[in-house]
Amino acid sequence: MRKNNFPEEFLWGGATAANQCEGAWNEDGKGMSVADCSNYKPKADPKDYKAQHGITAADIEKAMKTDDVMQYPKRHGIDFYHHYKEDLDLFAEMGFKVLRVSIAWTRIFPNGIEDQPNEKGLTFYESLFSEMKKRGIEPLVTLHHYEMPLYLVNHYDGWYQRPVTDLFVKYCKVVFKRYKNLVKYWLTFNEIDSVFRHPFTTIGVVTDRYPKEKQEEIIYQALHHQFVGSALATKYLHEIIPDAKMGCMVTRTLTYPENCNPKNCLLALKDNRNNYFYSDVQVFGEYPVFIKNYWKKENIHIHMEPGDEEIIKCYTVDFVSFSYYMSMVSSIDAAKKEKVNGNLSQGVKNPFLDITEWNWQVDPTGLHYALIDMYDRYRRPLFIVENGLGSKDVLQPDGSIIDDDRIDYFRQHTQAIADAIDDGIDIMGYTPWGCIDMVSMSTCQMSKRYGFIYVDLDDENRGTYNRSRKKSFYWYKKVIASNGDDL
Ligand code: BG6
Repeated sequence: MRKNNFPEEFLWGGATAANQCEGAWNEDGKGMSVADCSNYKPKADPKDYKAQHGITAADIEKAMKTDDVMQYPKRHGIDFYHHYKEDLDLFAEMGFKVLRVSIAWTRIFPNGIEDQPNEKGLTFYESLFSEMKKRGIEPLVTLHHYEMPLYLVNHYDGWYQRPVTDLFVKYCKVVFKRYKNLVKYWLTFNEIDSVFRHPFTTIGVVTDRYPKEKQEEIIYQALHHQFVGSALATKYLHEIIPDAKMGCMVTRTLTYPENCNPKNCLLALKDNRNNYFYSDVQVFGEYPVFIKNYWKKENIHIHMEPGDEEIIKCYTVDFVSFSYYMSMVSSIDAAKKEKVNGNLSQGVKNPFLDITEWNWQVDPTGLHYALIDMYDRYRRPLFIVENGLGSKDVLQPDGSIIDDDRIDYFRQHTQAIADAIDDGIDIMGYTPWGCIDMVSMSTCQMSKRYGFIYVDLDDENRGTYNRSRKKSFYWYKKVIASNGDDL
């Protein structure tokens, strides 16, 4: 058995999001969110994320007129809302020290604009966090994970209009006050860098409502409002729960140059810098010069209220969290090259890497690389809050699932984390994505599974919702019990 150097206090666990697992989309006063409009398109190629995922104004109108859950799988999720105690028992059995969940804003403020919060929503999360604590599991809570109130999309153009920042801050203050004795670790916006990849889901901007030439400016403006929202949430968190920690959350789309052609190297450098832009603002507290130059060149005007830049400067995050699924490749000849998809982004295929059934490149060394690179840049603790393999599971005749591919994937990525720790990188924890199977964010499929725990449910909402342990469940349990020594 190899001896790794995971610190005693390393937070092993798993990650989820309300909109993909809770279900109960219209129970106990919950309002409709953007996720409730995202429909499963069985005929679309699951590798073609745009076809699967693109949402238009007409799609929203259609969604608002129906209570159907089959076509809109995030409405039923895996019914975590009613199963959470049994799911927490399974997480505790694996030895989880932390569980990443998100709060659905629409359970607390159904339309985002109410004067008073919805008590039933507050009670649900109070019970969820208390039950975690009882089992020795620390909550890590995302405030905004692809589930903003649909009302704000229709009446405020999503995050494009400034009042949404104030409404978000109001919601944050309510949950900080209510859970101040239960939650220490918080994240502001899930994958804040994904605003351009899927603007409806992230900032509630329905692009076909605006002229093409205005769309980029609108997205940057909405993003600015999120940056201010993130800084203010951090300010109030520190005031209301002084020992709590706030993290930003980005998708680390690590990009390699296709080869040592200096032009490819420069391109990859710029692609990485574009990816870092989002966390740079939240960590360094200012917009990078290259973005301001870009705005000038492209005639993009961002309206900032007096004091916005000071707020962003003063209230930076305590730690940097990120998702890591794959690496990308940049090439000046990209147009002529074979492409791979992944997480709604596209890059040139890397001949040295395997790809998953959904065309995502698997690159554990890239995680080691990303950890060194991010720590050198930010010098703040890092937290890997998503990583995992989406694949189809095959049920054996006895009902078991032998997911050796998943085990291999996690073995290699966990080793990469151990190697980065050896290099002196300060890593707070590791929460693999979809520790229990849930509805896929991009394709709304159930069959794209990430979990250590199997949920008996198919893409058409057929199944018992029963939970069972996969082979990887026992593997991860052993890893946690040995604090990362027994991989
Ligand atoms: C991340 C998201 O981008 O990737 C999650 O934060 C998502 O919400 C995860 O589920 C995996 O993507 P998908 O589309 O395979 O579910």
